[in-house]
Order: sequence, then C-alpha cells, then structure tokens
Amino acid sequence: MYAVHTFLFVTEARMTDPGTPLHLAHGPALPNRIAKAAMEELLAEPGHLPGQRLERLYRRWSAGGAGLLITGHVMVTAQAMADPRDVLLEHGTPLAPFRRWAAAAHDGGARAWMQINHPGRVIPGIAQTWSASDVRVDAGRWSRLYARPTPMTRTDLVGTVESFATTAALAREAGFDGVEIHAAHGYLLSQFLSPLTNLRTDEWGGPLTNRARLLLDVVDAVRTRVGDDFTVAVKINTADFQRGGFDEQDARTVVGLLASHGVDLAELSGGSIESLAVNGFPADGRTLAREAFFLDTAATILAAPPLPVMVTGGIRRRAAIQQVLDAGAAVAGVATALAADPSAPHRWLSGEDAETLTPPVRWRDKTLSAAASQALTHHRLAEYARGATTPCARGPLHALAADRLPTLFPTRRR
Ligand SMILES: Cc1cc2nc3c(=O)[nH]c(=O)nc-3n(C[C@H](O)[C@H](O)[C@H](O)COP(=O)(O)O)c2cc1C
Repeated sequence: MYAVHTFLFVTEARMTDPGTPLHLAHGPALPNRIAKAAMEELLAEPGHLPGQRLERLYRRWSAGGAGLLITGHVMVTAQAMADPRDVLLEHGTPLAPFRRWAAAAHDGGARAWMQINHPGRVIPGIAQTWSASDVRVDAGRWSRLYARPTPMTRTDLVGTVESFATTAALAREAGFDGVEIHAAHGYLLSQFLSPLTNLRTDEWGGPLTNRARLLLDVVDAVRTRVGDDFTVAVKINTADFQRGGFDEQDARTVVGLLASHGVDLAELSGGSIESLAVNGFPADGRTLAREAFFLDTAATILAAPPLPVMVTGGIRRRAAIQQVLDAGAAVAGVATALAADPSAPHRWLSGEDAETLTPPVRWRDKTLSAAASQALTHHRLAEYARGATTPCARGPLHALAADRLPTLFPTRRR
C-alpha cells in the first residue's frame, strides 16, 4: 500500500505544472507550487511583535501570486533570540498583532505558514547560548562574535520541546495555516542533527536516530497540540557541506522519519553560518549548480519521496521551478528573488520566464560577502515594508553597515 502511494506521488509530481494546487495530509491545500521561502525580515516592532511593516510586506507578497508564504523565523523563546529585531511568539504574547499578520498574508489568496525556530549557539554578541554540546561556531575571524555554548540538560530539552509546541499552538490560534519547524542552516535542531556539533553520549547523541530525537519530539509535541487540520512542515539540510557533517544519506533517513511522524512536507536546503552553501560558498569545496543548487544533493530523496518535498535555493526564473518540479519536488521555494520582485510568481504562473536579477556580492571575505548579500535583501524587504513600489538603490557596504550595527551594539534585548 505504502509503495503504491509513493509511486502515484512520484508519477503525479513529474508532470506538474507550477499552477497545480497541492493537497496536503493535514491543513488546507496550496493554490500552486511556488512558495516564498522563509526570510528573516528583522522588522519586528518593540516587544518583538509583528506590526504594520510586516503586514504591508506580506500583503504585497500575497498579491504577488505565490501559493504559500512562509514567514521569516519566529523565535520560540525570549531566552534565545537570533536577533533582537526578530519576532517572538511564546506563552503570554498578545495574539492580535499575529492575527493581523496572518490576515495580511492571506489577503491575496496565499496560504501562510509560520516558521518557528530556536537558534541554539548561533546568536552573535551575547555571553550565554545553548546547544547540543560545547562546540563554538567556527566563522573564521568572526568566530569571536559567538560564545562557547552550554550543553543542554534534559530539563532544557523538555522545555524547548514545550516552547516549540506552544508557539505552534499560538500560530494556529492566530490564523496561520501551518508551521514550519526550522531544522536546517545550523540552528538548534540542526546542531543536534549534525555529528560535528552534537558530541553527546546520551540518548540525544551518537547514531542518527538519537541525533534526530529532539526534532522528532518537537514534531510529535507540535502535532499533539495543533490537531489534524493544521499543516506541520520541517526544513532540513540536504547536507551541511562540511567534511564529516550531516550528509545526503542522513537527510534521506531523516526525511523517512519525518514521513513516519506525520509531517506534511519537508523543505530541503543546505549549509549553515560555517558553510555558506546558500550563498555559493560551501566549506567542503563542492561546486553547486548555478540554479536550483540543492537539486543534486536532494536527488536520492526526490527519486522516491515518502512525503511532499519542497526544494529551495538559487531559483530565479520559471525554467528552474519547472526543473525542480520535474525532478520530483512538490513545491519550489524562492527567497531572494521574491525580495527583488514580489510579483514574480504571477509572471511565472502566466508562463513568462524572465530571470529576476539578484547579483551576489563577491568580496574576498566570504562571510562578509554573504552578510552583505543578506543585508541587501533585508534592505529591499524594509523598503516594501514602508510601502515603496520599487526599493531605492543601496550599495552593499552601506546595506551591511545598516544591517549589522544594531546586532554588534544591541540596545534592546529581553
Ligand atoms: C535575508 C535572508 C533571510 C533568510 N532568513 C531565513 C529564515 O529566517 N529561515 C530560513 O529557513 N531560511 C532563511 N533564509 C534562507 C532562505 O529561506 C533560502 O533557503 C535561501 O536564501 C536560498 O534560497 P534563494 O536562493 O531563493 O534565496 C534567508 C535568506 C535570506 C536571503
């Protein structure tokens, strides 16, 4: 029975037009196969709440035609904010601003999922962070920005599972259609998955089934709290792109485990702050495809996906979306290109193939180049959020300074 289902899914996906709706096991169907992937907006208002700027931005994206809008990562606990300008949703947070945010995202017909995250050790500029083990971030000469993390205790882990479940339940109450649990890009759940950052010898460390325990506990707790008519997705890396790190075989095993725990969709990405694969600088020296750059590492999963898969990374035009769908993915995820042109999905759905141009920054320092590229994207988001029709131009150095100074010299933390 299971094998027949898999075969039907593969056959259906291989012939998919980007405009075809996608029915999921839980929660409402997606109107088409183009998703705006998560982008940390850095646009929270005081109290880490969403406000008019995020509402304007998401209304704009919703009108742009993507069938699914996944929010930038929302923090599940005030104890671990990746950035003080991120949104936080925990027990006691007022829900009205989140209701308005979800309504804005639905405004043009898109579905809205909240991405929920705990950054673990990846919080620059603060003295205490938590992770699987006491392995510090290695970001070359920028490593000093990160504290050596404290290994989490059993009590910490139980509390973290509860935080994810509470945030998911509140997202549902606020009107979101689903949540995406962030287990990619080197944040806490990905720190547990990777053998380079998880050196534990207890039941959360060692073999992959142990390293995946925290993620699966989070998935189960979230499902218990949100019920059966709400989507639960997970974002994982196809690989860390670091020698000895989480690799394609690990990703395939984890995707199988997610399917058996009732997850509705797995988004595949790659890299981390230590291996800037999404910025074209993987630490293990591998060359990535110019477009849809995780398709090769996702190939073994896409050959027989046990659940709908979304592939994100490097998509700038319709032909790349079709390539991703033809390879067996159910959804194509697009981030940077939709910060440059929020209406691109409409053009792609009507058959246009024009490339959305987002020239990368190529300075000698790869970490700074990646940060400057992100900063340019943040600048565009802020421009749409203030209501600009077209973002005003800004150079990468100026964008980087505006983006990073508040993190290096924080004025507002809780
Ligand atoms: C400014 C910016 C912020 C991002 N924030 C997040 C985030 O909050 N959560 C996440 O999973 N990925 C985040 N990403 C990664 C994207 O979701 C995506 O995986 C990556 O950018 C590759 O896709 P692209 O080539 O279409 O941009 C971010 C990317 C950018 C450019």
